[in-house]
Amino acid sequence: MHEPEFPVLRLRRLRRTPALRGLTRETRLSADRILCPLFVREGEGVREPIPSMPGQYRLSVDALVAEARELADLGLAGVLLFGLPGSKDPTGSGAWVEDGIVQRAARALREAGSPLLVVADLCLCEYTDHGHCGVLEGGEVANDPTLELLARAAVSLAEAGVDIVAPSAMMDGQVAAVRRGLDEAGRPEIPIIAYAAKFASAFYGPFREAADSAPASGDRRGYQMAPPNGREALREMAADLAEGADVLMVKPALPYLDVLRRARERFDAPLAAYHVSGEYAMIAAAAERGWIDRQAVALESLTSIARAGADIVITYFAKEAATWLR
Ligand code: PBG
Repeated sequence: MHEPEFPVLRLRRLRRTPALRGLTRETRLSADRILCPLFVREGEGVREPIPSMPGQYRLSVDALVAEARELADLGLAGVLLFGLPGSKDPTGSGAWVEDGIVQRAARALREAGSPLLVVADLCLCEYTDHGHCGVLEGGEVANDPTLELLARAAVSLAEAGVDIVAPSAMMDGQVAAVRRGLDEAGRPEIPIIAYAAKFASAFYGPFREAADSAPASGDRRGYQMAPPNGREALREMAADLAEGADVLMVKPALPYLDVLRRARERFDAPLAAYHVSGEYAMIAAAAERGWIDRQAVALESLTSIARAGADIVITYFAKEAATWLR
């Protein structure tokens, strides 16, 4: 294709007025493609601020139902639930027991008739006393014994009324195990959003404070992906698709937009990107100091994630973004 040259070509022509810019806008964010992460804890009437994530809260089940009503009124697609259990143990049983904290939250949302999609993060790290995403054997995170526990948690969450499960433990074979578990339990209709390319990222710092899920010893580099590895991320995604993932996720988002773009070019499945806690906290902190404009930087970040190829954006700015986009 041949473009004319200046002075015939004047790219500023289409930038001159807001109407022209609106007409030629290539990427548009909308609330119905955004999922809002929420943290649910024990108690009643609790709305506990999270220090490392100003503007975010740990909510008791009743407060979460109230919050969900506001999110639904704003047109958001759904919530991604993380649980803070009352007690932890070596196998993370709080993740799969019938009256687990996320299970109770899901039931309460169902009973309240919430139109939001209820997505449950599927991992053990918030529920194990050692803080790792799987069970330990000889000081190592054991892959295969963890699979059965993740499948059990998925079934328990589906029974509680969750619409979608999102395995995030980065165990090999976790998507297949969860798919098989759901199918055998008679829940073949429940989709899986696979945290397929989940990097061992320093950007999760504020989340680990929020969810009280930092590993007591060691780190997650033995199971989460190495940040330098873009090709390996594509292999992870291909593996998850083959295991039955319905949606593939890249996480974190902005530092990995290249991975997202390559995934967009390679796979036809819906793609999600998670703008994580550290990405949120950096914007929040700089805006608090008056160094950047919170709304403008947040919207530019989320739009860039969509432009790179994400169909679904998961962000702690969900509620604000929905308000800004009205
Ligand atoms: C694991 C999980 C984590 C996040 C989402 N799911 C933490 C981790 O892997 O250490 C991080 C999300 C964020 O930083 O916003 N259950």
